[in-house]
Amino acid sequence: MCGIVGYVGHRKVVPILLEGLKRLEYRGYDSAGLVYVSGDKLAKHRARGKLINLEEMLDEVRDSASHIGLGHTRWATHGPPTEANAHPHSDCTGRLVVVHNGIIENYHVLREKLKANGHVFTSETDTEVLAHLIEEHLKDDLVTAVRQALKKVEGSYAIGVLWAGQPDTLVAARNQSPLVLGVQEGGSLLASDIPALLPYTNQVVFLEDQELAVLKEGSWQVLRLSNGKPVKKEVQTIDWNASMAEKAGFKHFMLKEIFEQPQAILSTFRGRLDPETGKVELPEIGLGLAELKNIKRISLVACGTSWHAALVAKYWLEKWVGIPVEVDIASEFRYRRLLLDETVMVIPISQSGETADTLAGLRLAKKMGARVISICNVVGSTITRESHGTIYTHAGPEIGVASTKAFTCQLTAFYLLTLYLGQIHGTIKPKERKAMVKALVELPAIMEEELPRLQQESAAIAAAFADSRDFLYLGRGSCFPIALEGALKLKEISYIHAEGYAAGELKHGPIALIDRDMPVLALAPKDGVYEKVVSNVEEVKARNGRIIMVGSKGDRTIQRMAEHFILLPKIHEELNPILYVLPLQFLSYEIASLRGCDVDQPRNLAKSVTVE
Ligand code: M6R
Repeated sequence: MCGIVGYVGHRKVVPILLEGLKRLEYRGYDSAGLVYVSGDKLAKHRARGKLINLEEMLDEVRDSASHIGLGHTRWATHGPPTEANAHPHSDCTGRLVVVHNGIIENYHVLREKLKANGHVFTSETDTEVLAHLIEEHLKDDLVTAVRQALKKVEGSYAIGVLWAGQPDTLVAARNQSPLVLGVQEGGSLLASDIPALLPYTNQVVFLEDQELAVLKEGSWQVLRLSNGKPVKKEVQTIDWNASMAEKAGFKHFMLKEIFEQPQAILSTFRGRLDPETGKVELPEIGLGLAELKNIKRISLVACGTSWHAALVAKYWLEKWVGIPVEVDIASEFRYRRLLLDETVMVIPISQSGETADTLAGLRLAKKMGARVISICNVVGSTITRESHGTIYTHAGPEIGVASTKAFTCQLTAFYLLTLYLGQIHGTIKPKERKAMVKALVELPAIMEEELPRLQQESAAIAAAFADSRDFLYLGRGSCFPIALEGALKLKEISYIHAEGYAAGELKHGPIALIDRDMPVLALAPKDGVYEKVVSNVEEVKARNGRIIMVGSKGDRTIQRMAEHFILLPKIHEELNPILYVLPLQFLSYEIASLRGCDVDQPRNLAKSVTVE
């Protein structure tokens, strides 16, 4: 939700800001803007729509000698995506600018007061109040003015501020929205997320809530917002590199990320299991045996695709560990009565580690004494910093807004957790555990081999259904959440209305929808509920429905029943969700491409949802 980038140092700033914005565009693409110091003034450029529109405006200033500036890419909250509402926003003099990610909750009251004091507003955004509020307090020191202004602000913010009166200084501050500094010799950067920093440095400093950073060419310092006292910060090294966040010849990030899944899954389990003995280690949980055995319930909290991973995990954990598991959508969890204590392990799941609702759920759980172990992809993100422990998914940077490799890596992490807890509780026999470990170890090679064929077959099916208005996805057992995930993928990138259903639920209502215009995709691996799914599909067929099936190689029934089918190799039944989601990812990708949709940046969405 909005991306911020800033730089001060010895290099020319405009190319750095543009490169940073390109790498943050997945956070919002309603408008883009940047500002830099030019002589004794600030030069500000803004354009509605995607970054490309801003880039086209900048041809003549790209080579500006300026070496300090800020950039912003917007996901609109207050005010439509117009140029006037694009960041940076200025004060009345035009000599002070602010870029912001978050929501200023009391902006209305502040705006009215500032207007009464004579300030003139030029946008409908909540952000603009920050520029005028800092202006109100500004005498000769920007840091003091920012601190005083922020005392009056309620809500979430990550901000960058630049003032022509102190043209060698960038000021940044954070409260409930992510902000990370990139530090290197001769210059410092600030950004909403790590990919923007990677071309320049892998040395980063994460800001915490209520902290303020002062960046100059040769120095950086972090202060506490409340009292202005310095805070000692740790510089961390990130093991991602710039090329990991590039398309590497693929047409879209999403396609690249689908093909990266075998490697990402391998990286997620590597070093955590021993194929010889079937032993699994997860030291990052940070709980002793006695504490782990004392866990009476597991509570999984997440949004979107990460919630689907949690739904699969419920099947695994309850079956193999025998502990009750509840799964909540984070925005519901945070507003219902929670029954948590130290015997409950709460697991927030998040690719970005910054999702506002998931983070709020985590904080509530901690307050109530629960043990919080997150599953997360971004090292150092807020969710990881606030959890008692984190099982990292090693998916590498995921840039496509539609989550693919992060999802299969979350499933891998849950599979490892299931094996680990089963090992501790003695609920999975060593022989079975060894077989499950072996199956996971063999999975990346199987996926690697199957992916090109799956893309081809999905593309052929996509051609037949690209004009559909609706789609139904059916699954049972641990493939029911995969049906939900397939439907989410399709709707978010192709804008086709799609629903995921538990196949057994069909006759309780949705079967009324079946006709030739409602394609039904059913997941039918040869597992314990296979026969049930087949019966449900027969019911669709009897009503003249158009059927696509995903099932096991050699399954003649599927080939007879379905108008289109994709067959997958037989693997350990528990791993089916990881394999069966692949054709659904491809199908949505291919349909969206045929419809000319913007696969990596679907309309209205942002990858990292840092507001409620
Ligand atoms: O970063 P998170 O995993 O917390 O994000 C959660 C959802 O916003 C995310 O999974 C979203 O649903 C994706 N766009 C799905 O492809």
